[in-house]
Amino acid sequence: MSNLLKVSQLTKVFDPTTIPIEAVKDVDLELHEGEITVITGRSGSGKSTLLHLIAGLEEKTSGNIKFKDNDYDELTSSKITELRRTEMGFVYQFHYLLNEMSAEENVSLPLLLNNFNMNAAIESSRNILDLLGLSHRYNHKPSELSGGEKQRVAIARSLVHSPSLVILDEPTGDLDSSTSEEVINSLKNYVKDKKACLLIATHDENFKKISDQTLVIDSGII
Ligand SMILES: Nc1ncnc2c1ncn2[C@@H]1O[C@H](COP(=O)(O)OP(=O)(O)OP(=O)(O)O)[C@@H](O)[C@H]1O
Ligand SMILES: [Mg+2]
Repeated sequence: MSNLLKVSQLTKVFDPTTIPIEAVKDVDLELHEGEITVITGRSGSGKSTLLHLIAGLEEKTSGNIKFKDNDYDELTSSKITELRRTEMGFVYQFHYLLNEMSAEENVSLPLLLNNFNMNAAIESSRNILDLLGLSHRYNHKPSELSGGEKQRVAIARSLVHSPSLVILDEPTGDLDSSTSEEVINSLKNYVKDKKACLLIATHDENFKKISDQTLVIDSGII
């Protein structure tokens, strides 16, 4: 199976004026097309930081990241942004939906950023919302949605532009167990259909059951 992402000896030290925090320490990781990778580790062990580094949302301190043989060190920040926009979907731990926009408009954003017209973007967004059991919530704003519904809108937004790498930070934290299983099944089907790659920080045992590899990280204060 071909290699989509390769992380070598990746380290991130947050350096506030007081005590430096080694949030990510010497992480090695390879992701292959069609595979699901789970990251676990106690709270504060660096899971979110690692995901942000991989998505190019945070600058590393040392080590190396290659996405489809593109070395981040050799890319400008606008190239990394373009890579993220076209090739990656990201679900933040705290979902970050835009409050003034409806569910379908929130989901459309990645397509609009990739120059789709509004009608096509809304149609694709509705299809993904249907897949995640939200056909009855197209026009609801985040303040009118439950925690689990917001989480599913954020997942829909991460899939709508058919990315090759989907990065999810605790995606099922607000879901009851049967909804969580349904969401996991949709994600599993997505990976199979698109030969995509899923990288998930989670404590959800249901994800561990379907994962191809699990990385346990545990770093801390220097
Ligand atoms: N911007 C920042 N500046 C300084 N320290 C930070 C920053 N962001 C994160 N940290 C620290 O880095 C460490 C790792 O944080 P991170 O959010 O990656 O952990 P996590 O494994 O995702 O935790 P959780 O399971 O609670 O979400 C923590 O000790 C955190 O306090
Ligand atoms: Mg986190």
